[in-house]
Amino acid sequence: MEKSRNTSDDFIEKAIAAANSMHRDELLFSYKGILYPTTICSPETFKALESFEARSDDVILAAYPKSGTNWLSQILTDLIAISQKKTPGSERSMNPEEPEPIPNLEIGDAKKFEPLSKVPSPRFLASHLRPENLPKSIFKNNAKILLVIRNPKDVATSFYHFCNGLALLPSYETWDEFFTDFMTKKMAWGCYLEYLSEWNKYADKENIMTITYEEVKENPALSVKNIAIFFGIPLTEEQLQLVVERSSFQSMKKNSDKTHGSFGNVLFRKGGVSDWKNLFTEDQSEKMDKAFEEHIAGTKLGKKLKYDLYCKA
Ligand code: A3P
Repeated sequence: MEKSRNTSDDFIEKAIAAANSMHRDELLFSYKGILYPTTICSPETFKALESFEARSDDVILAAYPKSGTNWLSQILTDLIAISQKKTPGSERSMNPEEPEPIPNLEIGDAKKFEPLSKVPSPRFLASHLRPENLPKSIFKNNAKILLVIRNPKDVATSFYHFCNGLALLPSYETWDEFFTDFMTKKMAWGCYLEYLSEWNKYADKENIMTITYEEVKENPALSVKNIAIFFGIPLTEEQLQLVVERSSFQSMKKNSDKTHGSFGNVLFRKGGVSDWKNLFTEDQSEKMDKAFEEHIAGTKLGKKLKYDLYCKA
């Protein structure tokens, strides 16, 4: 059975109600120099996160907002279900007495870590944080991390629409204003190019697999297969096809009411590559090219993004 409403949906809906009565300037707060949404993150949660005990068999997804977090979450939770001999989609607890803790580490209140510590292995965990702000135990215990990255022009485009569709984030009257903020580190979860260069310092670690949004789009079956191999989850051809089918944009969008509540409408927008061409002016495009060149172009992650193919053509 497909999962019905869960803790995340309820939490987000309450946060949206709170955000609706807040002034635009109150929607973000700064923690250690990075902005986060006030209604879903808090300094107390960040503090409690520092002592969170990761396990070596945790399945961790790292992704900057709008890079495909929900897409890869779907793939990973299905793979975990398969590894536990469950049918993908039926694994969620339907018991209101035992609500599912929100898998995103920095979202929710500080009390979330207690129930999270009781979730049986392998746990699925996600985060939009830079590596230096993740709990140290993740690296100490060698938990495996799937890092998803997406070309920066599509990330900015997707983020712009998201800000205007979701009350939790400050909205923008114009794309130009958004672009200026995106380029000057005024986004929730910080500057994307800095995020990439921080993660690049970890790119050679054995317990980290990096995948791009564009390569999953290009060849979902191969991507799912490689992800399953990385996490040591054996898959039959039939199971592989099931995971690929359930994670297609069409099927996730169709199910989004059940899986993400009203949040689904904002989340599953176009699900494609190069939508940036509908927003970026030539000047903005050049500014991004220059910033990319300065921050990340020559690095391992920079090359993996195939910038010329996805951001210049
Ligand atoms: P667009 O706004 O470009 O459509 P995140 O989950 O990190 O917030 O990322 C959201 C982006 O991923 C949105 O991009 C969304 O449409 C896209 N997305 C979500 N599910 C997808 C899927 N199954 N296939 C492809 N793209 C998907």
